[in-house]
Amino acid sequence: MDQKIKKILAQFELPQGEMEALPYGNGHINDTLCVTVYTEKGYKRFIMQRVNNYVFPQPIEVIENIEKVTAYLRGIIRENGGDIERETLTLVPAKDGKNYVIAEDGQLWRIYLFVEGTRSVDLPDTEALFELSGRAFGKFQRQLGGFDAAQLHETIVDFHNTPARYQRLMDAVARNEAGRLDSVQEELAFCMAHEADTHVLLDALKDGEIPLRVTHNDTKLNNVLLDMQSGEGVCVIDLDTVMPGLVAYDFGDSIRSGASTAAEDERDLEKVQLSLPMFEAFARGFLAEAGAALNAREKELLPMGAKMMTLECGMRFLADHLNGDKYFRVHRENHNLDRARTQFTLVRHMEEHWDELMGIIHKIS
Ligand SMILES: Nc1ncnc2c1ncn2[C@@H]1O[C@H](COP(=O)(O)OP(=O)(O)O)[C@@H](O)[C@H]1O
Ligand SMILES: [Mg+2]
Repeated sequence: MDQKIKKILAQFELPQGEMEALPYGNGHINDTLCVTVYTEKGYKRFIMQRVNNYVFPQPIEVIENIEKVTAYLRGIIRENGGDIERETLTLVPAKDGKNYVIAEDGQLWRIYLFVEGTRSVDLPDTEALFELSGRAFGKFQRQLGGFDAAQLHETIVDFHNTPARYQRLMDAVARNEAGRLDSVQEELAFCMAHEADTHVLLDALKDGEIPLRVTHNDTKLNNVLLDMQSGEGVCVIDLDTVMPGLVAYDFGDSIRSGASTAAEDERDLEKVQLSLPMFEAFARGFLAEAGAALNAREKELLPMGAKMMTLECGMRFLADHLNGDKYFRVHRENHNLDRARTQFTLVRHMEEHWDELMGIIHKIS
């Protein structure tokens, strides 16, 4: 085993025994290892991860958020007679009592109990799987319904502050760093025509119509562990991006990424549409679990969440294109512009079908 990993492992409270640590999964953000400890009784597995300090400049705040959210979830799971080591993540403490270890190179590592008997799948390419994803994240919202989200750190500042994202796009326009401004006039006009929309969700929060909640911010199906036997969602994982936010953010980003009929960087925009059956499937699962915990205005704003998360994402791609592709990795010329275009096409499609989207939410609610 790598000496560096060995040194880090030695600082955690793990069972005695021979250890093995192997790369695990195919996540993008964290380095993930599966640690197996062979004890006299058998073996026990753990998930060991490095928290990316480029994405999260304050990694200890990430851990503090996870501590608070999982502690609260444990209370709720216990009340319902559930299995606290299976239905939420459990941090393994270090020998100094903290729930992480800082390695010699300054990187932060943490360890979770391995949730056995589960698997994760990458693509929710069927309505049934997408509904399952909706259920899992809806349940997460319901369970955290009584949690005071203001306790959490905003570990990525202004992550879904859409007006701030708009402003950053305008800054990129003013700088025109890569000299590409002339070629994106149509896309820019689209964003400017939507400026008023960018305020709707935060205004509703400010006016007290909707509450601040815990948002997961990475609501992909591969962040839900599914029971190997029943196929049902067991545990929502990947809690690094848990932050204070709005329910429309989690709902909206799921729709943005999961209900499009084409890839995020599809060049043939004819192929890019919002799948209404997929939208309905996710909404069905999500509201079946979270519905009772949300107020009427929150439900009504779910389609707006889908539209804003999509617009926001498009604005980020467009801004990065103008900045010279500094944030999102590109694999071809105009890659970020292509991505921005799919997002704006989706927004347009949502607007064309707005009454249907609202109708679906009303029907389910
Ligand atoms: N506690 C756990 N028990 C079992 N498997 C896990 C656990 N945590 C993560 N995994 C597996 O590791 C993969 C990557 O972990 P994740 O926390 O989602 O990192 P990333 O940010 O890289 O997506 C997951 O998709 C899942 O398959
Ligand atoms: Mg993940």
